[in-house]
Amino acid sequence: MKALVWCAPYKVQVEEVPDPAIINRRDAIVRITSTAICGSDLHLVDGFIPFMQPGDILGHEPMGVVEELGPDVDRNRVNVGDRVVVPFPLGCGQCFYCRRQLWSCCDNTNPNPTPGETLHGFSTAGILGYSHLTGGFAGGQAELLRVPLADVNLQKMPAELSDHQVLFLSDVFPTGYMAAEACNIQPDDTVAVWGCGPVGQFAIRSALLLGAGRVVAIDDARRVPERMAMAQSAGAETIDMHDQYVYDRLLDITGGIGPDVCIDAVGMEAHGYTALESFYDKLKTNLFQETERPHALRQAIQCCRKGGTVSVPGVYGGFSDKFPLGALMNKGLTIKTGQTHVHRYVPALLEHIGAGRIDPSFVVTHRLPLSEAPRAYELFRAKQDGCIKVVLDPAA
Ligand SMILES: NC(=O)c1ccc[n+]([C@@H]2O[C@H](COP(=O)([O-])OP(=O)(O)OC[C@H]3O[C@@H](n4cnc5c(N)ncnc54)[C@H](O)[C@@H]3O)[C@@H](O)[C@H]2O)c1
Ligand SMILES: [Zn+2]
Ligand SMILES: [Zn+2]
Repeated sequence: MKALVWCAPYKVQVEEVPDPAIINRRDAIVRITSTAICGSDLHLVDGFIPFMQPGDILGHEPMGVVEELGPDVDRNRVNVGDRVVVPFPLGCGQCFYCRRQLWSCCDNTNPNPTPGETLHGFSTAGILGYSHLTGGFAGGQAELLRVPLADVNLQKMPAELSDHQVLFLSDVFPTGYMAAEACNIQPDDTVAVWGCGPVGQFAIRSALLLGAGRVVAIDDARRVPERMAMAQSAGAETIDMHDQYVYDRLLDITGGIGPDVCIDAVGMEAHGYTALESFYDKLKTNLFQETERPHALRQAIQCCRKGGTVSVPGVYGGFSDKFPLGALMNKGLTIKTGQTHVHRYVPALLEHIGAGRIDPSFVVTHRLPLSEAPRAYELFRAKQDGCIKVVLDPAA
């Protein structure tokens, strides 16, 4: 089959690789019909997650049709021919964490726990196509995908909804939703969202679905005007991270108290607000003195009102420098974060889609054949050609 393979930092290519096979008795093989590229894939391509090996297949936002099932898959839950979305974290459904709906913390699906235990104290769930830190599973930017524990992980989709309407239940819709839901949003709350990528877009819409009074989105208006426009079309006000001093603007908007909720939908590869700040974190990451560039998170903590909530769907991997712990502690902020517990949100979000309250296909700007995946990565990475979200089509 064809698959998008990681070769080295900044180099991916489409290669002919062996078809996946049923290895364990509860595996499924899914023929992929649509598969998206995520901001999290960029962290792998840009070399920020140091647990990749040449030949690893990327992709954790796939959907398709079940082609083959192992003998022990519960046929009451999934069958050959079912149309399914695959959540990016793999759950077992039975451990302490899965039973508490903390699916991305599953204790049983990461067969390679040592790096996670060394780096984070405990390893978390296996994640498809997301490095050997999370199990080294082959990902879904491919014609075929093996999914372990298929009767727990495959999410059946209704025929009347298109691929583009349901595909993002694999990751970015639940991710934006969990980021907003974690903040106990009240009707008169102002929610500020850093980053207008797909995660930011779904956080904005989720905050509004959850009744936020006002949503303010922050990104770079010169670099990604189309993302700002998409945020505005959802009902958000926007602030350009360069043209205005974000803290002052947020204070103006909130009568001097700051946003009640601040969501960092940028993560470890944020751009700095000043040349000096950018240079500082670039130098520190290049010298291995820190592992990420937490510009957006620092600013979110600084801007959040006293007693407010900072929610962090943006991905971080290791250790950050100049982390404003003093602001966090003295203002009495609450931090909410995590890899998304996707399975927990699928039923409710599918209901929102089915009822027409949101149509996630709004975020798709590019659909390309899988064979053009390297170009798709380039467009998405450089934010060229108005690229906000790419869906790859293995059958094209
Ligand atoms: N928690 C999870 O389970 C989960 C799931 C999916 C994605 N993520 C993470 O969410 C983040 C966003 O993903 P995405 O797909 O939207 O990525 P993306 O790269 O498309 O979007 C990031 C956006 O942030 C903007 N940005 C950069 N620096 C900024 C700054 N200092 N202030 C404001 N905006 C800034 C960029 O211009 C860009 O529009 C990534 O870190 C990704 O890894 C987390
Ligand atoms: Zn993702
Ligand atoms: Zn589990």
